[in-house]
Amino acid sequence: MSKTTIYYFSATGNSLAVARHLTEALDVEEPISVPGSLINEDPYLEARGATSLGFVFPVQRATIPEMLRGFIQSMPIDPHCYYFAISTYSLFGSNEFWDIDELLVSKGAALNYAASVKMMGNVGIVGPSTATINKRLERMEHQVDGIATAIAYHQQSFFPRANKLLGWAVKNFTHLYRKYIVFRIDKRCKGCGICVQVCPAQNIQLQKTDSEVSAPIRSDKCEACLACVHWCPASAVRMSKRRHTSYHNPRVLPEELNPKKPKAASAPPAEVVQRITEEPEIRVLLRDQEKPSGAQKQSMSDAEIAEALSSLES
Ligand SMILES: Cc1cc2nc3c(=O)[nH]c(=O)nc-3n(C[C@H](O)[C@H](O)[C@H](O)COP(=O)(O)O)c2cc1C
Ligand code: SF4
Ligand code: SF4
Repeated sequence: MSKTTIYYFSATGNSLAVARHLTEALDVEEPISVPGSLINEDPYLEARGATSLGFVFPVQRATIPEMLRGFIQSMPIDPHCYYFAISTYSLFGSNEFWDIDELLVSKGAALNYAASVKMMGNVGIVGPSTATINKRLERMEHQVDGIATAIAYHQQSFFPRANKLLGWAVKNFTHLYRKYIVFRIDKRCKGCGICVQVCPAQNIQLQKTDSEVSAPIRSDKCEACLACVHWCPASAVRMSKRRHTSYHNPRVLPEELNPKKPKAASAPPAEVVQRITEEPEIRVLLRDQEKPSGAQKQSMSDAEIAEALSSLES
């Protein structure tokens, strides 16, 4: 019996929109979130017994998102399974398919089919216009219909050889970027909790601070995916001093990005979020895992967070 499983990673919804269209065109089960799976008891439940298995993801820094890399690295691989990968990108891809192929080859399988879908960019200074969004979504549907046919017939495809020098540079850049990245949340924060919901790394907690503007916090859990920046309805999350345009796919809602997330473990209950919304002194902090040397301690432990939240409830 054949079984097709499609996993996706998506920060601003483009890859989820593509993954959904692909599952509809193939008439298979809905796509499964990688961050959502990773917090399940068995992250690879849906992969077991698959005869055809695919990944849909954004190109990030010329390759695959780090979380997806880790997911594939630990995944049980069946050498008889048909593997495919679909990337979404805004300018150009590079090593993403080669990187996935290498991971699969190291486990006795290989990447059989790969395709790239041009979508809306989420790193530019100017966001995409409505006309561009509509045009690309329409084109995406046609392209993904063709991709679905290729996958249904288990077609094989070739992808460009990896640029090893670029791969090395990207790997080191990504390491530094994740280590030193700083997010700020400014006083426009309304405490709505959307950033908590969309963060694939469960890296954000709502916390009470006594300052007007929350302090810059960095964390080695951060995937530097920019989901928090783009989904914040108040444009309150920023990277360093730079202000980003806000973009997220119009076909995706924030709560649809990473389902299967046990909300109780990562976010406070709805009534607490409501209370936080009403209290102006409550701000959001990105959880700190690793401090810059000499920096003041500004993160809170789980126990401190629980204490702060329960004091809000009382
Ligand atoms: C941190 C980061 C790095 C990116 N790097 C690239 C890149 O190297 N090449 C490219 O064409 N697009 C790049 N993009 C753009 C995304 O690949 C593109 O907008 C994608 O469709 C976003 O998908 P998502 O909405 O599912 O996250 C990058 C986006 C982010 C946030
Ligand atoms: S920073 Fe987070 S909690 Fe604050 S308004 Fe933005 S999304 Fe909502
Ligand atoms: S903190 Fe923001 S950038 Fe970092 S992983 Fe979470 S959503 Fe992505």
